Amino acid sequence: MRRTSIVGKRGLPAPRRDGGGTTSERLRRLDCDPELKEELVRYCRLRPGEVWEDPVRGHRVGVLDATKANDVNRIMDGQKARLAINDPPYNVAVGGANTAALRKVEVSSYLGFCQAWIANVLAVLDDDAHFYVWLGADYRGGFQPLPDFMILMREFRQVSPRNFITMRNQRGYGTQKNWMWVRQELLHYVKGDPPFRVIYTDIPKILRGYYKEVNGKRTENMERSRSRTIRAGNVWVDIQQVFYRMEENVPGCYAQKPLKAIERVMLSSSQGGDLVVDCFSHSGTTLLAGERLDRRVYTFDVDPVFAEITIRRLERYRCVGKTGWQWESPFPETGQKAGLQGGS
Ligand SMILES: C[S@@+](CC[C@H](N)C(=O)[O-])C[C@H]1O[C@@H](n2cnc3c(N)ncnc32)[C@H](O)[C@@H]1O
Repeated sequence: MRRTSIVGKRGLPAPRRDGGGTTSERLRRLDCDPELKEELVRYCRLRPGEVWEDPVRGHRVGVLDATKANDVNRIMDGQKARLAINDPPYNVAVGGANTAALRKVEVSSYLGFCQAWIANVLAVLDDDAHFYVWLGADYRGGFQPLPDFMILMREFRQVSPRNFITMRNQRGYGTQKNWMWVRQELLHYVKGDPPFRVIYTDIPKILRGYYKEVNGKRTENMERSRSRTIRAGNVWVDIQQVFYRMEENVPGCYAQKPLKAIERVMLSSSQGGDLVVDCFSHSGTTLLAGERLDRRVYTFDVDPVFAEITIRRLERYRCVGKTGWQWESPFPETGQKAGLQGGS
């Protein structure tokens, strides 16, 4: 079986490898290939406006628009979420490609888009809830949209800022004339007073010392600490961004977040059985994290292909225990014509 290639996550297309390990072809990002997109739509079970109900654990996946209040209410059906994980398009042209899905528009117009989806998501949050937003900053555009977004958020008095996390990508992009760009930003807001759990990384504690007397006994920090590894702070350096050698890779998805990052958010800011909402599903990372951590997830994407990939990713996980397709295709039925081959 010939192996197919995939796409660099938030970057240039990754090389395609055949069975012999040589780099021979490239598969374009789904947002860069309207013909391929059109072909894939034929295999999608949902049409715009439709919602899939998971018969096993009650998750929901829809083809809906986050800027439309009716659509967000539709997926929620009167229920409130304890956690919202939002990963909207960042208003940057990734890999130099300005596509309909990942378009760069005037900041004012981007903020109009944000104003609409933020209001819709906040309206479906529980009284005590967490609200996270992944965002970027384009230095060529005065670092837009990150600072503009932060200022916009001040209008939403129902939530208050809690933190500003930077996740460090292992691989970056840039020229010899600039620092390599390796950061992704994650803003954290809260509504009310939701519970929060401290999360530990896999990074071992190496500094010993910090003696303190406890019950008359001199103790060292290692004895007192709850974990042999360090706490996750607001700079994450221990999460590998997704690329084609990883099992969790979903070919065709150009903006997939690492499962570990979404699981970290979920573990710290929700509890077993909670309802989590994600209005920008894409590769379905939030849904998969919810499945693995016993949270119910209501999620959707405006694009039927990404809604279909989201459902298939869950089904594949349940069926074979894999978190993605690595370099195989989520749409094996398309065959070679579409440039995707392989499958599970
Ligand atoms: C950055 S990606 C999300 C990545 C996701 N967190 C993951 O790990 O795969 C953004 C997604 O938002 C979708 N999108 C763009 N505008 C939307 C809208 N108005 N409503 C819902 N989804 C939208 C795009 O189709 C794209 O799949």
